[in-house]
Amino acid sequence: SGAYRAHFRVWRGEAGAGDLEDFTVEVHEGEVVLDIIHRLQATQAPDLAVRWNCKAGKCGSCSAEINGRPRLMCMTRMSVFDRAETITVTPMRTFPVIRDLVTDVSFNYAKAREIPAFVPPPELAPGEYRMQQEDVGRSQEFRKCIECFLCQDTCHVVRDHEENKAAFAGPRFLMRIAELDMHPLDAAPEAGIDRKTSAQDEHGLGFCNITKCCTEVCPEHIKITDNALIPLKERAADRKYDPLVWLGNKIRRR
Ligand code: SF4
Ligand code: F3S
Ligand code: FES
Repeated sequence: SGAYRAHFRVWRGEAGAGDLEDFTVEVHEGEVVLDIIHRLQATQAPDLAVRWNCKAGKCGSCSAEINGRPRLMCMTRMSVFDRAETITVTPMRTFPVIRDLVTDVSFNYAKAREIPAFVPPPELAPGEYRMQQEDVGRSQEFRKCIECFLCQDTCHVVRDHEENKAAFAGPRFLMRIAELDMHPLDAAPEAGIDRKTSAQDEHGLGFCNITKCCTEVCPEHIKITDNALIPLKERAADRKYDPLVWLGNKIRRR
């Protein structure tokens, strides 16, 4: 009941060379795009490469672009599309394709490694940490990140701008720096690590012009721009000299 045949167009290929391939495939009530990709594998394209794990929006593996929009395939219901429309599924555009829908996201792991970890306060043992609830809450929001890298894929600073990748960590990792910089127990300054300066000088915070596209695609609904990037800009720069911080504050108050 409720089954129909949908038109799918899926990118097939390796390392930059490839093409869109058309399929007609059965859809059942309640299915998501990942179900359809799996049905294609089972019935028509056994060698179709796709990365996935949990099918519950929690592992962050099944990121792709559906009709050009960065999304998790497992969290995109077929019911949001018109039955007659062709649904195009392509790999994330910002990262190199390995095969079909699978991209090489090692850019993100490299950026993660560049950020010094939390520095424990030397005078306290782990069981002795005390924090205000407000600080705990802020940190908890950022820690909902499932590392799907959809925000990294979306950000115009690196999307179609390979040349910016070396100098820009992307929203997910600027958020990580913000999280650590706002952590009341992080002893990085005492250890000679200046997270604010490195956000600016080494991780390209200034490239971010707060377009909020990252926030819009985050499946965990983390307010990346408002709660991490703008506050980090405020902490890093003298507000007078950064008109975007001023603008960001105006937008935030609306
Ligand atoms: Fe994905 Fe959101 Fe984490 Fe970015 S911040 S990697 S969009 S979960
Ligand atoms: Fe990019 Fe998000 Fe800033 S999309 S420009 S990191 S607000
Ligand atoms: Fe885990 Fe989609 S399969 S998030």
